[in-house]
Amino acid sequence: MLIAASILSADFARLEAHAAEAVEAGADWLHIDVMDGHFVPNITFGPLAVRALQPLRKRTGVTLDVHLMITSPERYVEAFAEAGADIITVHVEACKDPGAMLQTIHSLGCRPGLTLNPDTPVESLTPWLNMVDVAMIMSVFPGFAGQSYLPESDERIHTLRQMLDEAGSRAQLEVDGGIKPHNVHRAMQSGASVVVAGSAVFDGPVPERILLLQNGARPRSSTG
Ligand code: DX5
Ligand code: ZN
Repeated sequence: MLIAASILSADFARLEAHAAEAVEAGADWLHIDVMDGHFVPNITFGPLAVRALQPLRKRTGVTLDVHLMITSPERYVEAFAEAGADIITVHVEACKDPGAMLQTIHSLGCRPGLTLNPDTPVESLTPWLNMVDVAMIMSVFPGFAGQSYLPESDERIHTLRQMLDEAGSRAQLEVDGGIKPHNVHRAMQSGASVVVAGSAVFDGPVPERILLLQNGARPRSSTG
């Protein structure tokens, strides 16, 4: 299982150092939550945050996993690719033409991802399963860190796992929102291969908190 540490919960006054703590402690990806105050009721940051992490990316090889919670993503993907994103994930609800969007992301040299809100049917991803490198289940309504994992996400992860397997897709199945040491195993059991964790990583001593998540992922631990 891979851990994507969401910098939404990092201390922006020392973004690079705080993100580096997560990478050095074993986070595989850095998850970058871009919000526009329109698609979601919160505003965060744009390509500059991706650019600011380039020295860390070059030094460590960490994957920058950009999650665009914005309307009209087609207007901005190029800027995120130029800023040094590895993965760019867009919302199916935000794309006029998801296939064209994924193609564009791919042609910009990035790995395309597709996600959806908790109240959008998982089946809406069906046409694109062989075009994505990442398929992501939102296990909270997007907009804020520190929310609780929606229990119905288990079933949605399981359904998407089956859909990916049936389509012969080798995409990563990422789960985003409310992941803590007590439920990480549950998300994995349902079929996740990557979990996003924001508050669970950065709201305390980072190395210990990464270790708690890694331990939570082990089979013998509680499924919470
Ligand atoms: C929610 C974001 C998530 C969020 C996760 O809108 O997409 O990536 O940062 O934060 P936690 O892990 O605290 O739920
Ligand atoms: Zn996210």
